[in-house]
Amino acid sequence: MARILVTGGTGYIGSHTTVELMQAGFDVVIVDNLMNSNVGVLDGIEAIVGRRPDYENIDCVDYVALDKLFEKYADIEGIIHFAAYKAVGESVEKPLQYYRNNINSLVNLLELMPIHKVKNIVFSSSCTVYGQPDAAHLPVNENAPIQPALSPYGNTKQICEEIIHDTIHATPNINAIILRYFNPIGAHPTALIGELPNGVPNNLLPYVTQTAAGIRPELRIFGNDYDTPDGTCIRDYIDVVDLAKAHVVALKRMLTNKQEGNEEIFNLGTGRGLSVMEIVETFKRVNNVDVPYKIVERREGDIEKVWADPTRANKVLGWKAERNTEDTLRSCWKWQLRLNEAK
Ligand code: UFG
Repeated sequence: MARILVTGGTGYIGSHTTVELMQAGFDVVIVDNLMNSNVGVLDGIEAIVGRRPDYENIDCVDYVALDKLFEKYADIEGIIHFAAYKAVGESVEKPLQYYRNNINSLVNLLELMPIHKVKNIVFSSSCTVYGQPDAAHLPVNENAPIQPALSPYGNTKQICEEIIHDTIHATPNINAIILRYFNPIGAHPTALIGELPNGVPNNLLPYVTQTAAGIRPELRIFGNDYDTPDGTCIRDYIDVVDLAKAHVVALKRMLTNKQEGNEEIFNLGTGRGLSVMEIVETFKRVNNVDVPYKIVERREGDIEKVWADPTRANKVLGWKAERNTEDTLRSCWKWQLRLNEAK
């Protein structure tokens, strides 16, 4: 089976994707500098799969180290590039760190691909590129207009998509699939891997689970005066294992030359929008725990409502989000309980 390079493979989505790749028979080499993850994640992956992925502590901004990596693992046939900074607020404070890291990492990989005869790359993008779609574009499909980015983080995703586009145009030998994620949540059903937020979580689900666990006194719901049925924002929450599986399908598509053209873009979402309030209430009900909350001011930069039209991914990739939200929210809690035990 082919060997795949997974950058950011000890991170949240990267670790779940590594599991799915290895379970599909691929060999994986993970590259991660552990700036937002820890090496213990490899134990979790091994416990699930029964095999340990290769691992190299490399920062993808380091061209020379990456070059050596491709020499060492000369049989790499594809790359899944997750490694990136991803905190929206932090990117506003430290834009250059975001531009340097997110953009240079990708450029290094794209430069090294033809040198080492690696043809295929899957890139982690985000629905953030759509901004707030107008009513005519909801649910949002891949042809919706790209809107000016609301943060340096979002801008790095747009710029990286453009860099891929231009590179492929100039280098017909390279294939890329760009995956635009909606809101990934949940953990592996074994609770052996999951999301490990650093410090105070920014994202909704880690905040909800930490509040339910008593680590945070209460959840703050950012605004209930939006133009939505219950006034709270709407997102398309996709299970991280479903999301991980899409990467395996995308890679296989490239490795078996099934692509239509050498650059494809897919939305990865469920097609269903849920409000913050629906998420909180469903989480409480299925897990039988309380989540104290209060409604506070809107969070700056939040989008009111966005959810995916995943038809292209469903039809072309033959992939569909399968896990229901109740099970996903159960997995979030199971993972939090395991984190509590590990303390
Ligand atoms: N929310 C709260 N309280 C919290 C955290 C979040 O009410 O403590 C709300 C937010 O206001 C939002 C929803 O929960 O309405 C989801 O917020 P997240 O921070 O979990 O997710 P976002 O949709 O804001 O951000 C995600 C990714 C980003 C990406 C963005 C694109 O985390 O990387 O989608 O829209 F840029």
